[in-house]
Amino acid sequence: MSDSNRCTEHVCLGSIVSFPSTKSITITCRPVEEVRSLAKDFFDQYYTSIKRYNSTSHVQRWEQVQGEITDTGTYNLTETELVYGAKLAWRNSVRCIGRIQWAKLQVFDARSVTTTTGMFEAVCKHIKYATNKGNIRSAITIFPQRTDGKHDFRIWNPQLIGYAGYRQSDGTVIGDPISIEFTEVCTKLGWKGKGTKWDILPLVLSSDGHDPEYFEIPSELILEIPIVHPKYGFSFLFKTVIQYFYWYPMLTYAFFSFEWFAEMDIRWYALPAVSSMLFDCGGLEFTACPFNGWYMGTEIGCRDLGDVHRYNMLEEVAIRMGLDIKNPTTLWKDRAIVELNLAVLYSYQKAGVTVVDHHTASESFMKHYENEMRMRGGCPADWVWMRAPQCRALRHQYSTRKWHYTTSSQVTSIRILRGKSMSGKKGLVNEIVNRMEDYDIINIEHETLILVVTSTFGNGDPPENGESFAHSLYAIKMNQGLSMGADDLSMASSKSFIKMNSQTDSVAAERRFDRNDSLKGSQISDIMSDDNLGPLRNITFAVFALGSSAYPNFCAFGRYVDNLFGELGGERLMKLTCGDELAGQDQAFRSWASEIFQTACDSFCLDFDKNMADISAALKADTLSPESVRFLPVQAADDEVQGKRILCRLLLRYCHLLLKITCCILALSKLHNRKVNMYSLAEKVNLHEKDTSRVTIKVVLRKRLSSETPLSYQSGDHVGIMAENRVELVDKVLERLGNKPATDDEAVQLQLLQEKHTPMGVQKQWIPHERLPRSSLRGLFTRYLDITTPPRPNLFLYLMGCTEDTEEQERLSSLAKDSDVYEHWKQVYWPTLVTVLEQFPKVKPDATVLCTMLPLLQPRFYSVSSSPIAYNDELHLTVAVVTYKTKGGEGPTHYGVCSNYLNDIQIGTLVPCFVRSAVSFHLPTDTSRPMIMIGPGTGIAPFRGFWQERKILGNRKPGSRFGKMTLFFGCRTKEMILYRSELESLKKESILSDIFLALSREPSVKKTYVQDLLRREGDAVARQIMKEGGHVYVCGDCTMAEDVYQTLKSIVQERGMLNDAEVENYMLSLRDDNRYHEDIFGITHRTAEVHEKVRQTAMTRIESNYSLNNATASK
Ligand SMILES: Cc1cc2nc3c(=O)[nH]c(=O)nc-3n(C[C@H](O)[C@H](O)[C@H](O)COP(=O)(O)OP(=O)(O)OC[C@H]3O[C@@H](n4cnc5c(N)ncnc54)[C@H](O)[C@@H]3O)c2cc1C
Ligand SMILES: NC(=O)c1ccc[n+]([C@@H]2O[C@H](COP(=O)([O-])OP(=O)(O)OC[C@H]3O[C@@H](n4cnc5c(N)ncnc54)[C@H](OP(=O)(O)O)[C@@H]3O)[C@@H](O)[C@H]2O)c1
Ligand SMILES: Cc1cc2nc3c(=O)[nH]c(=O)nc-3n(C[C@H](O)[C@H](O)[C@H](O)COP(=O)(O)O)c2cc1C
Repeated sequence: MSDSNRCTEHVCLGSIVSFPSTKSITITCRPVEEVRSLAKDFFDQYYTSIKRYNSTSHVQRWEQVQGEITDTGTYNLTETELVYGAKLAWRNSVRCIGRIQWAKLQVFDARSVTTTTGMFEAVCKHIKYATNKGNIRSAITIFPQRTDGKHDFRIWNPQLIGYAGYRQSDGTVIGDPISIEFTEVCTKLGWKGKGTKWDILPLVLSSDGHDPEYFEIPSELILEIPIVHPKYGFSFLFKTVIQYFYWYPMLTYAFFSFEWFAEMDIRWYALPAVSSMLFDCGGLEFTACPFNGWYMGTEIGCRDLGDVHRYNMLEEVAIRMGLDIKNPTTLWKDRAIVELNLAVLYSYQKAGVTVVDHHTASESFMKHYENEMRMRGGCPADWVWMRAPQCRALRHQYSTRKWHYTTSSQVTSIRILRGKSMSGKKGLVNEIVNRMEDYDIINIEHETLILVVTSTFGNGDPPENGESFAHSLYAIKMNQGLSMGADDLSMASSKSFIKMNSQTDSVAAERRFDRNDSLKGSQISDIMSDDNLGPLRNITFAVFALGSSAYPNFCAFGRYVDNLFGELGGERLMKLTCGDELAGQDQAFRSWASEIFQTACDSFCLDFDKNMADISAALKADTLSPESVRFLPVQAADDEVQGKRILCRLLLRYCHLLLKITCCILALSKLHNRKVNMYSLAEKVNLHEKDTSRVTIKVVLRKRLSSETPLSYQSGDHVGIMAENRVELVDKVLERLGNKPATDDEAVQLQLLQEKHTPMGVQKQWIPHERLPRSSLRGLFTRYLDITTPPRPNLFLYLMGCTEDTEEQERLSSLAKDSDVYEHWKQVYWPTLVTVLEQFPKVKPDATVLCTMLPLLQPRFYSVSSSPIAYNDELHLTVAVVTYKTKGGEGPTHYGVCSNYLNDIQIGTLVPCFVRSAVSFHLPTDTSRPMIMIGPGTGIAPFRGFWQERKILGNRKPGSRFGKMTLFFGCRTKEMILYRSELESLKKESILSDIFLALSREPSVKKTYVQDLLRREGDAVARQIMKEGGHVYVCGDCTMAEDVYQTLKSIVQERGMLNDAEVENYMLSLRDDNRYHEDIFGITHRTAEVHEKVRQTAMTRIESNYSLNNATASK
């Protein structure tokens, strides 16, 4: 805006309707220097908005744009820049009163359109999307920008939808007088209107500077609302009587009847979409860019229906109301217009079509104005246009309105965020799946649809790769915007925040901003209020939460994301769906994926074409056929080639064995995206003193060569071990496979047949499997594929086709399709792949297809049981060796993969491993703080690293002050006390101040758990935590951790005399201060119990289904 156009201290230009800065569309081209200067301004604003001002990306982008301008005189915006620009244009649109919704604008990028037919399709899509069955959504469609001024794209209609106007020979008009001229243009182009009052005009479009063409808008796309009046009342006689009281308007009003309103045959359309405006963005001019918001009732009531140069209905309404139109003092115009407006609002609301009354609109604008003043220090506004317009229509001189964007699209982008592996949960369009850790939260503002698939780990915590995402969301919530960085908020606080915000009954879950509700018709106050306009107001989202109901905080992280997205203003496309690992998680995901796909297509008005049908089908079944997957014999295992190169460079210093190691390291590193190393097994000791029913071992892994750099770790970290499947299981599987390579030991590459749609037709090509490395078939089944976790139902669908036996097919079918039958069967047999093959002896799966269907063998984590200060070259582990019998103890013995692998391998065996940092489980930085360590069973593991470190530090710095270290340990019997002699010497040396031992199954000793001892030692525990700033460490099984937490809470509450809310806050503050540390192993203690519970539930459901079916059958 130039200075001459600005209000000054002395002169207010607010009353000038034709604001000097608003230009009409010209056809001259912008001088290059002007483009450059406007572009500079735009990019500065854009990069400031995404907090990247002056960053490398800003500088690089600006250089690129300048280059383009120099070479061509213009440049192109990226999609994100265009979206930002369009939103900003609305935000800055001085005459728009509904701008509070500016960030919720859907931008359709139609810049690739070249023809009028293409334009027509894009406009139809816009109308369909925006109308949304009455629940109007703001949208803009942007066609190609102006080039030389001779190839403009234009929409000739002032609005996408409008009524024709026909001048009659007697000078009267049928239809909308404002459209007379345009109707004549349409007629000249060949359009034939029906000549009624309510003929919808065709679209008149021109592309690339060509002559215009007209297109009839399909009638099913246009939503019209018959205008009726809410008041039906008393008889005419009674009306005439009370007319005498016309000076008493309230009374008169109350007794009028408006039955005649329907006779007037008034209607109006739902979608106000202006289409003759110029969108001026970063120096570029977009000459065709239809935009819509929703109606403010008065625009229809006062202007479209009331204005004398429009439908001019006030007189007729007043006469029918029985008002004296000859006498202005009866205020007949005022009274008639109120009724018209009332009828409009009533009719739209009744039809479930979004509309806003002018009072709410004004209020909302003032809210927006205040927000903008607060956030940007200003809000451009043409105040004449901001006034509620009801009275304006009464004036003859009311001017026709011309809108203009002043400031500086794509098809809906879908973003799928996944927390953790999502292994086997593919199927949604893969290209747009982002891992949470790779996602830059700064983009969230510009997303349209976000689908989150995430699991929960720890004790209701985010999965490892979701931590920073969780933290960023927390930062947005705390700052209510993306403006502040997350650095100044602690990770611990975000964790306790997650705990608080993962409750189902959270307010957010109840929020009305739910698509299911909003589809029922918008509430005026809702759409114009700013309490649902949080920073994520622009996104639509849905969350699928993976978890296990065996954990107290079931699916907590998924719930948290769902709640927070809602609270931050996002619109929920579908209610949160939880997939329970113990009850049909796979089926739940499958039906969610296909339902969300369908809902998203409906919601974004995407027509269900061939591609969509392909995707939808892919979501329902993802099995490959033997024709589309093969083994290709190769010279050497995939990474052997790379390995060889590396080794050549090292002048072939290493021998063949080393080559194999390098290959294995490379393959595993790539497969699991970790930096894998090989340590050799140096020592293995059974930690139980006598032969007990179970085995717990200390495992010492040592780096291979003194020249190698050791893995760096800290006490408390985790070691990931990549184990091998048991030889006998691998052999049994290999025996049963068909379509195998010549031998089980030759190197092969798994390849998939990929179909590509090209202009030349469908082309097929073989591509290597994206994850599995080249290896022998035996190698794949030994190291890379999981053959012990109970197979998923989709495998049974595939296996059904691998047997001719109808009885086997039926059983497989019921396992695949009935989740209760599947769960019951799973809990009874806890079947491995071998179990399945044994139970279905005629099934002969194809080796290639099976490899693509099995999940990958996952690394197992162990708390490191040593300190790097004490053992720099070694990693010590404390491993409970897992064996169990299925069928409630009656079935065959099953062996945990990793713990038995570690127990069985010979000294000197090389073990692939890596370190994972457990940042929240490290020693306190202030060594003088007391430490309470609670770890029954193998939960003691990380504490061994702690005490080793303390011992060495104590020796190194004799004068230093160290806080008390207290250990609460629990085991079944005295023989199972882990590291007993080590503990005794630590006590003697006063490194451990106290050791409390809870024995749960020692004959003649009352069953005791660590919690019992904590309660007994409550005074000391409370003192250390509350007075001495002590740290609490809890390690082991999840139920124990929850029980311990509750126990400590009650100790603190009692000793600190706190009420419920206070103690809750106190416990959360312990986490926030990083003084409450948890390291959770999984559901180890209660595994059998949990399995039995799930089995029984499934059984009950099967039985009740059975009796229900029988009852129905016998009817
Ligand atoms: C962060 C972290 C740290 C850990 N630290 C340690 C540690 O220091 N020491 C340690 O020993 N473990 C630790 N664990 C557990 C460890 O990772 C493995 O889960 C454990 O060793 C079992 O692995 P596995 O491969 O031997 O058994 P798997 O092959 O994984 O088999 C275990 C599975 O078998 C099933 N199962 C087990 N018992 C039964 C039963 N009675 N009936 C039916 N099914 C059953 C369950 O599904 C169970 O998940 C830790 C886990 C985590 C996540
Ligand atoms: N099947 C096997 O051969 C085998 C062998 C070793 C380990 N494992 C697996 O590995 C898991 C971990 O073994 P582990 O040695 O670390 O532990 P553990 O020996 O199973 O348990 C350690 C101690 O914790 C107790 N405990 C159980 N629930 C508790 C709770 N809610 N709160 C506090 N204490 C509780 C146990 O008491 P209880 O007497 O009540 O159990 C026991 O005294 C086992 O539970 C098992 O799943 C299996
Ligand atoms: C150490 C550990 C802790 C877990 N904690 C929880 C939890 O607190 N709540 C929950 O619902 N599920 C919990 N789970 C279960 C996982 O969320 C569940 O296994 C999920 O299916 C994992 O999916 P993913 O491997 O695809 O990420 C936990 C699992 C493990 C191994």
